[in-house]
Amino acid sequence: MRLPLVLLMLMSTISCAEVNAVNANPDLDRPIYHYMPPKNWMNDPKPFFHKGEYHIFHQYNPHDAVWGPMHWGHAVSTDLVRWKRLPIALAPTPDSPDKDGCWTGCVVEKDGLFHILYTGVDPQTQCLATSRDLITWEKHKGNPVIAAPPEGFGDCWRDPCAWKEGGDWYAIIGSEKRDVGGAALLYRSKDLIHWDYMHPLFIGDKSRDGAMFECPDFFPLGGKHVLITSCGRTFWNIGRYVDHKFVCEKSGLTDGGQFYAAKTLIDDEKRRILWGWLQEPRSPEEMRAAGWSGALSLPRVLSLRADGTLGMAPPPELKALRGKHYPSRSVAAGEAVSLIDDIRGGALEITARIKVDGFGRAGLVLRATPDLSEGLYLWVDAKEKLLSAAGGRLPDPSVRREQIAFDPSDGAEIELRIYLDHSVLEVFADGRACLTARHYTKRADADRVGLFAVGGSAKCIIEAWEMKGIW
Ligand code: FRU
Repeated sequence: MRLPLVLLMLMSTISCAEVNAVNANPDLDRPIYHYMPPKNWMNDPKPFFHKGEYHIFHQYNPHDAVWGPMHWGHAVSTDLVRWKRLPIALAPTPDSPDKDGCWTGCVVEKDGLFHILYTGVDPQTQCLATSRDLITWEKHKGNPVIAAPPEGFGDCWRDPCAWKEGGDWYAIIGSEKRDVGGAALLYRSKDLIHWDYMHPLFIGDKSRDGAMFECPDFFPLGGKHVLITSCGRTFWNIGRYVDHKFVCEKSGLTDGGQFYAAKTLIDDEKRRILWGWLQEPRSPEEMRAAGWSGALSLPRVLSLRADGTLGMAPPPELKALRGKHYPSRSVAAGEAVSLIDDIRGGALEITARIKVDGFGRAGLVLRATPDLSEGLYLWVDAKEKLLSAAGGRLPDPSVRREQIAFDPSDGAEIELRIYLDHSVLEVFADGRACLTARHYTKRADADRVGLFAVGGSAKCIIEAWEMKGIW
């Protein structure tokens, strides 16, 4: 049999091992256990739970791997882990209020029908669509249902979040009060079609949580109320809901890294679960070359902690993805990175318990090459009181660094629950701080894990699992 010339040429230049490596995962950066559309761009998840099904609607550009005319993509899961992609729920309609895009909003159920409230552009107005089965959506003939923002607020006015309270429907719309900060504007309706503006539920402070609120979410949790807002980063605010106003008592970041526009649902176990959009710090050229951009974060189960702050934990369902187990072992970390012999891979769950006694900085390196010329470093710094992640070689101040306030408190053992999925790193630190980082590589041997400690030594108990893909 004569082999085609192109195959012969390939065989002469690529070894068998290389062919297998390329075939196994031709794109070393594409996540395998995080939900993504098959190709192109996604942002902003909009979760909705109904009869045992977790639905995620999301911003989607089906035509390109960069942001563009927004559609609503849709996926469903019954186990919080594996997702089935469903047809596009909403697409822009020419010569209509959403001609330039169907932007973010929410899904609610009323009288056995499902409703999407979303922002049509341009200009930004609030629109309604209805469905009997969550799959096929019909836009309301009288769109927009809310045509213009109230006086005193800017034209950026979007991402409605609705809920039922007593016999009425309420919605907040993200907005801006010039020179003051973001605003969540409160509306009331009997039928989801006719809306009356009431007043701001809450006005932020631009020096703290940004000039405008995108993708607000509002819900009760552990006897308090939580208002989630996004502007550059996604913030949580915990406080009281009194006379249809939100009185903030504590606030913080849901994540210090590439995690944005997070929103929640409540499931039949009464768990309040948050998902964010994992952003891609890549150029448009790089995103187009990859053919995809953006992913859904892992689900984060929220709780109110005893100190009044937000708790975030991975749900137990994620254990279904665990494959090969690397048993727990104690490793001493020193100034030089020590690579662990057996734990390797691009898709791993790692639990690292680190004793923070008397060191400046301690942590792990992931996706490291054997020569340590590249890697993704994740570390806790007891002096800076930060949890950080950065690619490259440490210390290298020129490298982009993700970070979040995290005080390991002297002498305590901290627990890092680490989910690595190729270019995605998601970390839960002691159930009270989260950090997402992205790290891209072209090297198939960037699959090593190591430990290090600077300014002292650290004891670490580490256990890991290979993670299976969801498709
Ligand atoms: C947040 C956001 C929303 C908007 C959507 C458009 O990422 O800017 O405010 O509705 O993205 O895609």
